[in-house]
Amino acid sequence: PLSGIEAAKQRAAFKAVDDHFHPSYKYIGIGSGSTVVYVVQAIAAKGRKITDGMIFVPTGDQSKQLIIEAGLPLGSIDALPPVEVSQTKMGGVAALNVGTGLQDLGLKGKRQSLDVAFDGADEIDDELNCIKGGGACLFQEKLVASSAKKFIVVADSRKLQKRLLTKWPTIPIEIAPLSAPTVKRILITLGSSDPKIRQGGSAKAGPVVTDNSMWIIDAPFPPLCLKSDLKGHDNGDGEHGTWEVHNLGRRLKRITGVLEVGLFHGRNGVQVAAAGEEGGGQKP
Ligand code: A5P
Repeated sequence: PLSGIEAAKQRAAFKAVDDHFHPSYKYIGIGSGSTVVYVVQAIAAKGRKITDGMIFVPTGDQSKQLIIEAGLPLGSIDALPPVEVSQTKMGGVAALNVGTGLQDLGLKGKRQSLDVAFDGADEIDDELNCIKGGGACLFQEKLVASSAKKFIVVADSRKLQKRLLTKWPTIPIEIAPLSAPTVKRILITLGSSDPKIRQGGSAKAGPVVTDNSMWIIDAPFPPLCLKSDLKGHDNGDGEHGTWEVHNLGRRLKRITGVLEVGLFHGRNGVQVAAAGEEGGGQKP
């Protein structure tokens, strides 16, 4: 039997699967990290009769192994059947009209091909924005999350904080190795105190290389404000030292060399299943 935090992660995972995994589903996204291990356990416990007809899509090598070892059918995000997509003209540019999306694109139509995606997070704020990438898997995680009709974040209650960067200290950013020095310089101009290229276990190991052959920069920023915090003179664009989550996410994404940012925001349909050491619970 598990105790403490591990037991809390497991309770949150089983609750998330009980509430958000339906036998009628076909395509399921499986995220990365230590909490998702329990999600896979809970799904596998549903039995082969239910899971054999489904396809499980990983967010990196770790979750791929989890899926295989649990005997679940493995798929890939780039090998899913096409879905109905409607297009509209927006400002003269043809824009995908997506249902919900991490990119704050349009609104209506269908694009999501996964019925649900389950993933962990490093920190979750009151508006259900998340920091992810503590395990270096953020790009594929975002690709899978933005392809899912429902994105379920599973976490122990330590991860729930009013604002991001309260306990978790940095924003993980996945970058092309060649761009590292310029990205670091730009991060400093945007207010990051000491951005660092994430290193492997030992000095000899060098930078951590992601599943996409990229590097990770961990960028410390002061705690981020929520949309509901914004008022008058400070619109959260970093000018007054404060960044609002969406503003910073969009700004970081524009830096040349950045593949993806470990801020998950602007996503409708996010739900969080969280459990504390003392008992289970769920945030809406
Ligand atoms: C992987 O890069 C991350 O985004 C993970 O989802 C996150 O770090 C949560 O991991 P744990 O469940 O191990 O805390």
